[in-house]
Amino acid sequence: MSNNIIGIIVGSLRKASFSKKLAKSISTMAPSEFEFKTIPIDDLPIYNQDFDDEDRVPESYVVFRNAIKAVDGVIFVTPEYNRSMPGVLKNALDVGSRPYGKNTWDGKPAAIFSNSPGNLSAFGANHHLRQCLVFLNVPAMQQPEVYLPDMKDAFDEDDNLKSKETKAFLHQAVDAYIDWFNKLT
Ligand SMILES: Cc1cc2nc3c(=O)[nH]c(=O)nc-3n(C[C@H](O)[C@H](O)[C@H](O)COP(=O)(O)O)c2cc1C
Repeated sequence: MSNNIIGIIVGSLRKASFSKKLAKSISTMAPSEFEFKTIPIDDLPIYNQDFDDEDRVPESYVVFRNAIKAVDGVIFVTPEYNRSMPGVLKNALDVGSRPYGKNTWDGKPAAIFSNSPGNLSAFGANHHLRQCLVFLNVPAMQQPEVYLPDMKDAFDEDDNLKSKETKAFLHQAVDAYIDWFNKLT
């Protein structure tokens, strides 16, 4: 039986990103018959419809759109910027959604794992992202909702989660996503 491939998309570009550290943890939690693969969004120019309309699509768009087409589902790991998702993540959604009629996200089951250095857990980013996924026809896992607070002190010097409870919750959320994915597909 062929593996299901789940893309992990991180809504932060910074080197020491807590979201990147979480994504690294999540990528070790794939069960058998699943592969978790991080899809970078770092080098996507800001979406401009002229690129598609005038047939001068950046190579990085082609690579990204093909990467989304090649996965069966997506886990978004995102922080919050100004009570919404970071622009880089919204831009990745936009790039993957076009040209019109060729939405690469279409029908791919997703999970949203939001996090913050303090105690708010990026609720605003989580739910703005959910709003976009409705239009992109991406079913998003409802439960468990994954809000991860206090990431500032969550990792050791090797970028591993220090708290067994947080790691267990993350694992439980990944398992719930896989169960739900299997029911949908
Ligand atoms: C432009 C900007 C806006 C931010 N707005 C929020 C916010 O609305 N809520 C929040 O919890 N943190 C906010 N932060 C702090 C981020 O949560 C923090 O920088 C976090 O470490 C970013 O995620 P990362 O570690 O994955 O890069 C903001 C940071 C930046 C740079």
